Amino acid sequence: MAQGLNFPDKFLWGTATSAYQVEGNTRNNQWWDFEQQPGAIWHNDKSGLACDWWRNAEQDFDRMQQLHLNAHRLSIEWSRVEPEPGVFDHRALDRYREMLGGLRARGLEPMVSLYHFTNPRWLEARGGWENAETIIRFQNYARTTVKALGDLCQTWLTVNEPLVYLAQSWFRGIWPPLKQDFLAALPVFRHLLYAHAAAYQTIHACQPHAQVGYASAFRLFSGLRPDHPMDHFAAELKRYLFDHLWIWATVDGKIRPPLGVGQYYPPLANSFDFIGINYYTRDLVRFSPNPLTLFGNEQFSPDAELSDNGRDGPYSEYYPEGLYQLCREMQQFGKPIYITENGLPDRDDDQRPRWLLAHLHQLHRAIEAGCDVRGYFHWTLVDNFEWHEGWNLRFGLFALNPATQLRTARASAHLYGAIAEQNGISQELCAKFAPKLADKIFSAGAAD
Ligand code: BGC
Repeated sequence: MAQGLNFPDKFLWGTATSAYQVEGNTRNNQWWDFEQQPGAIWHNDKSGLACDWWRNAEQDFDRMQQLHLNAHRLSIEWSRVEPEPGVFDHRALDRYREMLGGLRARGLEPMVSLYHFTNPRWLEARGGWENAETIIRFQNYARTTVKALGDLCQTWLTVNEPLVYLAQSWFRGIWPPLKQDFLAALPVFRHLLYAHAAAYQTIHACQPHAQVGYASAFRLFSGLRPDHPMDHFAAELKRYLFDHLWIWATVDGKIRPPLGVGQYYPPLANSFDFIGINYYTRDLVRFSPNPLTLFGNEQFSPDAELSDNGRDGPYSEYYPEGLYQLCREMQQFGKPIYITENGLPDRDDDQRPRWLLAHLHQLHRAIEAGCDVRGYFHWTLVDNFEWHEGWNLRFGLFALNPATQLRTARASAHLYGAIAEQNGISQELCAKFAPKLADKIFSAGAAD
């Protein structure tokens, strides 16, 4: 490329999905039951067929291939693999074999998550993650799944965004089990950590050369008002709880407050082979004396550009530098980094091309600064079922009409395809989709 941002050889360009959001008719878990409750989901939307992947994921794998992608991240639905306690459904595992084989046949390297927010109905009935028994059950499910699929997948994520699950389900109380109970959240946090550690060991025992990690959501909290120390205190507290507590436990095996008093749990120490970063936005924090807010209310920067509105307001703010900052912060752990999710809801696609380019520019800066970033997985390929937002928020490179299952490529799909094909971003490509950004990035002496 004459002038451009070149990415490393063998860089993975992919998209990311989760089973419940794309497979359709996933009836045997807590989310399906939750969906049936009036008002639970925006406009009482139903996941229904979702993107119809259980029957025909391959149609979208073809799209990925046409975009020159070389990777895809998906998740396995626990309730399909283990529909009743201890009873494993080998037809379901065969379908996943078919999917992973289908990806590989199209030159797409799979990255597979074992847990992405959904619990089998029978597990939920036993208390779900509040019950310590779930640790061993998860380990058994992980063992069976990895034994069945390990020859088709090298890279595993044990859990996706444990802190988002906790925040939505036990703190804000808007996802099942709809609790607002900080004390009940603490054992859930511990159980998820122990389950991750158990699965990490188990996967390596089954498949010694596997690469195993987890995907963490980062929100990069910072104080709203520069001269208000309490804003910074509240932001630090939230960073500690949301962005750091989990990762440090998996680094040195210590169970820090409020989960414990620094006890050492050996299986947790060094229990990841790479870092998975999910990044969408940052939050600014204004101090509040209310402990139920963890001493601060979040808001977006007053002058920031915002993405589409969810039920409670805009979903995210434009802050691509956050991706650079996170990669630099994670560099200290000395492990490869994957961006396991990044994207935005943008139904009319008038922001996505520029947001995508700006985030990739920041990622490139991080790589230039020495970060060992191996891949980028955009959330997501096709509009999918966005949890309690239903079909409200549209994250897809392709627009989907869920009723007809018709897909329409957004301009961003062409852009992302060209980036994957070039393994980088040429000046022309950037100028075509985001001329002002191109001026900023490519003008002589740009201080990027
Ligand atoms: C989750 C996805 C979700 C995406 C967009 C992430 O927090 O892992 O399941 O669809 O954000 O909200």
